[in-house]
Amino acid sequence: MSVAGVAWARKLTDGRLRGGKLVLIDSSVNVMNSQLTGTDLRHLSRALELAECGRGRVSPNPLVGAVVVRDGEVVGEGWHAELGGLHAERAALADCERRGEGPAGATMYVTLEPCAHTGRTPPCTEAILEAGISRVVIASDDPSEKAAGRGPGILRDGGVEVEMASGEQATAARLLNQPFRKHARTGLPLVTLKLAMSLDGRTTTASGDSPWISSERSRELVHRWRAESDAIAVGIGTVLADDPLLTARIPNARQPIRVVFDRSARLPHDSQLMRTLDQAPVLVVVSPQADASTLRDAGAKVIVADGIPAALSELGRREITSLFLEGGRTLAAAFADAGEIDEARVFVAPVLLGGSRRIEPLDPGADDTLIETRFREW
Ligand SMILES: NC(=O)c1ccc[n+]([C@@H]2O[C@H](COP(=O)([O-])OP(=O)(O)OC[C@H]3O[C@@H](n4cnc5c(N)ncnc54)[C@H](OP(=O)(O)O)[C@@H]3O)[C@@H](O)[C@H]2O)c1
Repeated sequence: MSVAGVAWARKLTDGRLRGGKLVLIDSSVNVMNSQLTGTDLRHLSRALELAECGRGRVSPNPLVGAVVVRDGEVVGEGWHAELGGLHAERAALADCERRGEGPAGATMYVTLEPCAHTGRTPPCTEAILEAGISRVVIASDDPSEKAAGRGPGILRDGGVEVEMASGEQATAARLLNQPFRKHARTGLPLVTLKLAMSLDGRTTTASGDSPWISSERSRELVHRWRAESDAIAVGIGTVLADDPLLTARIPNARQPIRVVFDRSARLPHDSQLMRTLDQAPVLVVVSPQADASTLRDAGAKVIVADGIPAALSELGRREITSLFLEGGRTLAAAFADAGEIDEARVFVAPVLLGGSRRIEPLDPGADDTLIETRFREW
């Protein structure tokens, strides 16, 4: 992969480095950071870094980081580390206690508005008020129905000074949680298309074989993206051609659900997917006319859906907030026709595949280039 590609891959939360049209639909971005100082922005950036620590472990919850600062000193840091575990605000307050520091009168910097409802854990607003935090600086809103400004309102009513950030940190905070935000707004998962293609635009060889197109380093990155996704999807064409495993080959990774779009329920019982149900679930999307009883009996989960929007609604209902679409071309085109691709990550490999033989680059060090594009922002 090119250096530019690596930089892009590492800066997943940095909107400035992404291609595509950014459609900003959150009105909070119009608020100026007028009251926030350079120190405030630095602490918010640190909170964003901490939020990243939960990547791949908290979905369907959002990634959140928090920093507590008293008299100019950082006295607590925390992040949402696992689903059902402490929220970032409570984790940061627990860190204050561990350090023997009192948070009363401190400022809390947090990447997402604090929750005001009891979900898997009690409301963070309660913990903030009880701790005597006097100021809260928030990088992004929570568009969920049960949140949407309630937390900041409760804090203000409790006498806490509340400020919403805008600009770079606000954008980064929203980009951090695109799957969560889309799911909260629409009930659908965020769809990211991944493709690997040759310089001459082929995703397979002319003879229809399915050679590895992308480099080993690109494929390692794909395994990381799989581990960060709730589900991976392919069409039955790819399963019949390649018999893929579709797991995240990373130690201790959370395995995504493997989804096959297979209208006629043709998924072979002896496919790698069906033989590895103990490693990760397989969910087959079939049409209402298909008989999927033998797949069900063999342990696959089945969704009956007529078309992609219906399938996505059902996946969203099952709390799948991110769908990593790994192809092939037919299914990718169907998702595009349905207007259901939010982002694309395309590897362009320095080979030619259009002729009868693969043509390799002269430079043995030539590597893939990653092109990332966002088509809409949530
Ligand atoms: N380079 C890459 O990035 C990449 C990635 C993946 C695959 N590939 C290659 O692509 C080749 C397979 O491509 P492909 O296009 O045949 O496979 P595909 O896109 O994976 O699967 C196509 C099949 O999906 C099924 N499908 C289910 N719901 C659909 C819907 N709503 N709309 C459209 N199709 C739907 C259709 O079969 P039913 O009608 O029977 O359901 C269709 O024939 C393989 O050689 C594979 O190696 C390359």
